[in-house]
Amino acid sequence: MTTQAAPRKQQVDEASLESQVKEMYRKVAVEPEGEFHFEMGRGLAERLGYPAEDLDRIPAGAIESFAGVGHYFHLAELKDGESVLDLGSGSGTDTFVAALKVGPTGKVLGIDMTDEQRAKAERLRDEAGFTNVTYQKGYIEDVSCGDGSVDVVISNGVINLAPDKAAVFREVVRVLRPGGRLAIADIVTESQLPESVSCDADLWAACIGGAMQEDDYRATVEAAGLEVVRVEPCPYDFISDNAMGAAEKWGVKAVALLAVKRA
Ligand SMILES: C[S@@+](CC[C@H](N)C(=O)[O-])C[C@H]1O[C@@H](n2cnc3c(N)ncnc32)[C@H](O)[C@@H]1O
Repeated sequence: MTTQAAPRKQQVDEASLESQVKEMYRKVAVEPEGEFHFEMGRGLAERLGYPAEDLDRIPAGAIESFAGVGHYFHLAELKDGESVLDLGSGSGTDTFVAALKVGPTGKVLGIDMTDEQRAKAERLRDEAGFTNVTYQKGYIEDVSCGDGSVDVVISNGVINLAPDKAAVFREVVRVLRPGGRLAIADIVTESQLPESVSCDADLWAACIGGAMQEDDYRATVEAAGLEVVRVEPCPYDFISDNAMGAAEKWGVKAVALLAVKRA
């Protein structure tokens, strides 16, 4: 009797996905008034829980391109002098909020692969005089920071976009000091996404197609060497018909998560 190999799960093409994600977030940086699958800007940030007094102290140009999915700073509890790494820092909203919280003795590094996002964040930083923030071109799967050199890793709406999430969480564990924190907001799903959704590069770039099932996501975080301390729902909604339909059907939702690197 011959055994038949199981059909290979179709995968999204990573090269074309990267160019599609970069093109979408190039537009987020340079044409934030355009039409997107998702909401952006100050109204979104306030609804997610960013205090107005924080938003008033950071560049408005960053907030207009804010494309996060939740608020997690109450979980991160950043302290004076801490070193923070923001994975997928976009136009800089969370790097600036983090900079306020760690103060002049702390430092914040934002990593993003999209040139226009980093260029915008750098310009806004220089205009506003945030001297404790730096940006680097890079991939969240392969971070330039040294082992154990970071107190807190933050990220907002980004890890769902990475095809290899286990690699991202391995990097988080490598760069965090023992006892260091991971505080993020991200998109997860209640059900496993079918290939018709997970292989749709447009839905992937819209933060839906790459979303992982919530129990698998938590297991991936823990397998990397982190202990999940808290997971909270975030009041995030998609806005295009295509994205809303997929979100409703597969239980696509945003969560904020705090995890600690095991000592
Ligand atoms: C949804 S936006 C969020 C940006 C920012 N965190 C915010 O809240 O506005 C996703 C960002 O992640 C970046 N990004 C996506 N995948 C990445 C990867 N693998 N490595 C580095 N940056 C990535 C994109 O360029 C984009 O700027």
